[in-house]
Amino acid sequence: MEIIKSNAALQTILKSSRWAGKSIGLVPTMGFLHAGHLSLMRRARQENDLVVVSIFVNPTQFGPNEDLDAYPRDAERDTELLLSENVDIAFFPLAEEIYPRGFTTYVTVEGPMTQVLCAKSRPTHFRGVTTIVAKLFHLVSPDKAYFGQKDAQQVAVIQQMVKDLDFDLQVVACPIKRETDGLAMSSRNTYLSARQRADAVVLFQSLTEAQQMIAGGERSASAVVRSIETRIKPVQDAIIDYISVVDAKTLADMERLEGEILIALAVKFGKTRLIDNIRITI
Ligand code: PAJ
Repeated sequence: MEIIKSNAALQTILKSSRWAGKSIGLVPTMGFLHAGHLSLMRRARQENDLVVVSIFVNPTQFGPNEDLDAYPRDAERDTELLLSENVDIAFFPLAEEIYPRGFTTYVTVEGPMTQVLCAKSRPTHFRGVTTIVAKLFHLVSPDKAYFGQKDAQQVAVIQQMVKDLDFDLQVVACPIKRETDGLAMSSRNTYLSARQRADAVVLFQSLTEAQQMIAGGERSASAVVRSIETRIKPVQDAIIDYISVVDAKTLADMERLEGEILIALAVKFGKTRLIDNIRITI
């Protein structure tokens, strides 16, 4: 495995691979790797000659009062995991190269897609995500880029950017990896106290119950939202940010459930904001 820090070194090594006709899979991450991240790498390993994983805690996607400084980091452990997953290139970009002095260009997906769900409480988040992901796409020029359905809005926004800006690559959306009790894996789960960790299972339980309601014939989005709310509200420490039922592709609100739907939620346990979702085809 090559461990690369500079943009120029990355571009040099990838240019020769591309010339050799190798397909390239990219997995962008912010590190503190868990089985969710590893599942994207395994998929990339199956589908490409060369797997590039980037690890960069991207400052532009954190709001002023968010957890940028506290965000968990462990480059040594991450490197071990990348080695064990047979990753070819570990890219640890340097902040001063990604955002050099005088950096002023941002990539923004405009419109409702970046105004709903997580964007309501994190208004500058997706601009940071699309900017770093566009930069990584330019630096790596992958054939395929792998993202987790755990961040469903992120996938939708990146797909929109790829379409609008003619990036010549395929976005591969991978299923959510969960702990054995159903909690979606996340680097932020380490912030939870033991009680919050146990309580957080209510997120997946309430989504599963909503899925069962829909399977049983429920077609009203507000009834589904109410049922999830009723399950989560009584949980100590849990403060609901949003519970929404939207069109899975456009993220537009819907009342009568049909087609590909996404039930998405964000809930704060103390200071820790957790997200989860479920995709259902009716
Ligand atoms: P990060 O939160 O580190 O996640 C990296 C990738 O892993 C994302 O595509 C995310 O959706 C996926 N992932 C996280 N938890 C997962 C789980 N439980 N199951 C499946 N996939 C999971 O998302 C980001 O970083 C950043 O926004 C990034 C895209 C790297 C841009 O900075």
